[in-house]
Amino acid sequence: MAEQKINNIDVTDYPHINRGLDGIVAFSTTKSSIDGKTGELIFSGYHIDTLAENATFEEVCFLLWNDRLPNKTELDELNQKLRSKRNLPEPVLNYIKSTNKKAEPMAVLRTAVSMLADFQDDDADDTESAIAITAQIPSIIAAFDRARNGKEIVAPLKDGSTAFNFLYMLNGEKPGQAAERTMDLCLVLHAEHGMNASTFSCRTVCATESDIFSAVTGAIGALKGPLHGGANTAVMNTLLNLKKQGDDADPVAFTKGKLERKEKMMGFGHRVYKVFDPRAVHLRKMSKELSEETGHEYLYEWSEAMVKTMKEEKNIDPNVDFFSATVYYSIGIEPDLFTCIFTMSRVTGWTAHFFEQKANNRLIRPRALYVGDKNKEWVPVEKR
Ligand code: ACO
Repeated sequence: MAEQKINNIDVTDYPHINRGLDGIVAFSTTKSSIDGKTGELIFSGYHIDTLAENATFEEVCFLLWNDRLPNKTELDELNQKLRSKRNLPEPVLNYIKSTNKKAEPMAVLRTAVSMLADFQDDDADDTESAIAITAQIPSIIAAFDRARNGKEIVAPLKDGSTAFNFLYMLNGEKPGQAAERTMDLCLVLHAEHGMNASTFSCRTVCATESDIFSAVTGAIGALKGPLHGGANTAVMNTLLNLKKQGDDADPVAFTKGKLERKEKMMGFGHRVYKVFDPRAVHLRKMSKELSEETGHEYLYEWSEAMVKTMKEEKNIDPNVDFFSATVYYSIGIEPDLFTCIFTMSRVTGWTAHFFEQKANNRLIRPRALYVGDKNKEWVPVEKR
């Protein structure tokens, strides 16, 4: 091969620098398949539309962890285990109560999940830890939200679904069937999504033979960012800021202005999907229905105006975070909790990938091309 040079460095050993690892296939997986051209999403063999129509979140947990649906006994067993693990250890609750009330909820969740590692049964295996983390994340989120608002923390119920129990702990009253189903469907839709940044982080930590709590903690850190899971909060802030403009609010002009200034519209675009995100199809429908029910039609109408403008101006479609924002808002969840809700669901995908990585592990260790100087002379500190 002819010698190739970048910055006077022979790069024949580094044939391709791939910023952002676009298109790089680093693993094989049975957890999900995404076709970015057709908008097809499959979780362990099942089309997302099939799951959205039929599955509960707990069935999806079992599916991702085992690559098959549970029978009735297995589902009952999993539900029982999840319910039995919902209580938080006292030191974790104390941390939540004592933390800065203005802290970012994702930062509190990250620390609390990391703390959980110290309070597991000595003989708990990874499967049991995954169940415990999945069961305890909703309790952490609800406890923090109540504590920061000066409200009594509500202990988890010993029955009911993850969605039902979460809304109960958050609001202090049992949710109706419609709210539970909305929450459950959101959990189903967000559970897994290929080699996104947080799942990749989780697998990278796992591949060093670190533990499942460290891997999930790292993944939460990655999900928090506004280019990933943090976008749903950013979308809601955009809509609420527009609302402050009263009669002058103009979502089309707002979108065009952002594009002219070369700023990103949160909740739009995706590294893999070049068509409408199949999860957004379901969330869009829910957003419409819920916005009408709660008298927030304008939020939905503004969202649609932004979608149309983004399509016309840039040919970019919304991603999962765009309509999920108005869905969560309509069921009364604070905007800064939205990314935590995402975590409540995605932890199942992360842990499923953790099992898969561990079963066929190889250290994840890419290279970086050094483009700095190599021959600098040492200058003593007093002469610099
Ligand atoms: N708003 C405006 N323009 C956009 C957007 C957007 N949201 N997304 C992409 N573009 C434009 C870019 O400016 C670029 O345009 P150009 O070619 O004229 O320079 C082109 O589309 C390609 O964009 P990239 O940033 O290179 O695409 P990439 O694959 O790196 O980014 C990402 C994907 C990070 C999701 C991006 O679309 C983005 O920042 N979106 C907003 C944040 C967001 O919604 N994140 C959530 C993603 S879903 C999830 O993680 C759960």
